[in-house]
Amino acid sequence: GKLTQEDLKRVAAHRAVEFVEPGMALGLGTGSTAAHALDRLGDLLRAGALPGVTGVPTSLKTELHASRVGIPLLPLGGDRGPPRIHLSIDGADEVDPDLNLVKGRGGSLLREKMIEGAGDKFVVIVDESKLVPRLGCTGAVPVEVIPFGAPHTLGLIRKVFDGLPGFHARLRMVKKDAEEDTPFVTDNGNYIVEMFFDDGIHGDLHDISDQLLRITGVIEHGMFLGMATTIIVANKDGTVTVME
Ligand code: A5P
Repeated sequence: GKLTQEDLKRVAAHRAVEFVEPGMALGLGTGSTAAHALDRLGDLLRAGALPGVTGVPTSLKTELHASRVGIPLLPLGGDRGPPRIHLSIDGADEVDPDLNLVKGRGGSLLREKMIEGAGDKFVVIVDESKLVPRLGCTGAVPVEVIPFGAPHTLGLIRKVFDGLPGFHARLRMVKKDAEEDTPFVTDNGNYIVEMFFDDGIHGDLHDISDQLLRITGVIEHGMFLGMATTIIVANKDGTVTVME
């Protein structure tokens, strides 16, 4: 029969888990694609196939999922954290031809960037719908900001990027009740500013990253530049393309 998008996510995730070897410390990603990798890892661990494998979770959701399927968890750094992270596996919202990513539309970008940036290898798992010609083509580039003065920080972001074609930005909101919306809160207790570009980002990505990170009140953003070492793409026909 025809493969669903969920099938494709599973295909990519299972291929990535083939890179995992006994004794590895893993960065465990967040999202619907990474969830398939957690399930697969849990199955292999319970079967005794991957002794000594541990994980550092990129979100509270992943922490719960991973412990439910029996993956031993460690913190990032310190005496109790793994001395090194061998491999991280995570999904992405967008992948450009240079293997740059947009991540964090699920809201977990800060811990993802901390953990995935610390590892030796970062394998990204996507179905082909995530491949884009330019970052920012299909939706928001999320930016994590401190809640204090968030409208002020949003104003600074607007001022810096005003000139970029089709640019607009807003605070991510969630439904509080029938009448009221409330800001989305990350695992770290912060807010998310969403940046939109009609036709994707035409400027220099590293410049835009630097400008964002220079704004006081901005903590981190969802552009993952030069971080992915491997992209595993599940194509509609069920074949897999590996980009390195
Ligand atoms: C979580 O904050 C995100 O960075 C996810 O990794 C990304 O949104 C991919 O999620 P899906 O696999 O659910 O598309």
